[in-house]
Amino acid sequence: MELDPVSIAEKIYTKALCSVRRNGDRIPYSAEDGVFDDKTDTDICWWTNGFWAGMLWQLWGYRNDPLLRDAAVSIERKLDKNLMLASGMDHDSGFKWLLTSGANYRLTGDPDSRNRLLLAATNLAGRFNPAGQYIRAWNDSGDGSKAGLAIIDCLMNLPLLYWAADELSDIRFRAVATAHAKTALRCFLRPNGSVNHIVVFDPGTGRVLDTPGGQGMAPGSSWTRGQSWAIYGFTLSFIHTGDAEFLSGARRVADYFISNLPASGLVPVDFDQPPELDWEDDSAAACAACGLLELERLTGETRYRHIALRLLLALAENRCDFRSDRDGILTHCTAAYRDSRHNYNIIYGDYFLAEAILKLCGKGTFLW
Ligand code: GLY
Repeated sequence: MELDPVSIAEKIYTKALCSVRRNGDRIPYSAEDGVFDDKTDTDICWWTNGFWAGMLWQLWGYRNDPLLRDAAVSIERKLDKNLMLASGMDHDSGFKWLLTSGANYRLTGDPDSRNRLLLAATNLAGRFNPAGQYIRAWNDSGDGSKAGLAIIDCLMNLPLLYWAADELSDIRFRAVATAHAKTALRCFLRPNGSVNHIVVFDPGTGRVLDTPGGQGMAPGSSWTRGQSWAIYGFTLSFIHTGDAEFLSGARRVADYFISNLPASGLVPVDFDQPPELDWEDDSAAACAACGLLELERLTGETRYRHIALRLLLALAENRCDFRSDRDGILTHCTAAYRDSRHNYNIIYGDYFLAEAILKLCGKGTFLW
């Protein structure tokens, strides 16, 4: 069977419209029994709080239904509570504000959205540690216990800094983003093309102290969403800098990902997990597909597109719930290998599915 992106885009759109009609400006992380949860009052600083609004903006770019835009704008305003809470600001500002304020500013030119983006970018740049040349992940209680942590996911947040550099003609933002991405090439990328999730630096000297397993199975194993963050993240740094080292890094991780992809096209939580485990991560598949489609565009190598289509077809045939009376599309996402819960809907999986499908239809909006 062949992938039919136009018909899938229609299904995603119809389903999202029904979800917004039912849920208004809820900020979902997941769907429980087909009903979106809501982070508005429980965790307004959670790192995934921009994805649903980002998906609504993507779909608004596809079909201009004001209901989608209004829900996305309302979510963006709710995130101001996070923007005003220093302890809730972390390395994930790109995920939160590129997909909300970034989308709004690109698509409507709203000056308040620009202001939010600049505040978020400035905060993100302030997390840079010159000693190790990395943007620190996560916060601690002020005891410095997390000052040396950096994670591969953060590559996806760098476009916020590239944007600020261009917007303000201020090279400092670009210098921070580029330095962090170079550190990722040097300290996260392994000789076989896979990447570590976490690198622990000595925050005073910048020396690498440890590479724990993070959200993957174990130290040295290959957490699949981390591989996807690296494929797409290095590709984005190439798009924004033109530095061929980033393209080469993205291709190395992509080749590793492709050579480890199971015949089913369905992606496990960790490429090294025991074969008897059925734990999957559809979000890793959807994010990798987005990165691979960009790689095909940048290199002209059609094999990247073929693998992206294979990943998306496997999802479309086996893992998509398109019933419009239920929230959430992808059924088999996993946040972390060691979690007690696996194979459920998570909002960032749905976002990357929508982004990939709309990209294939030529109707996507580039938000990174
Ligand atoms: N950024 C955290 C994750 O990928 O789960």
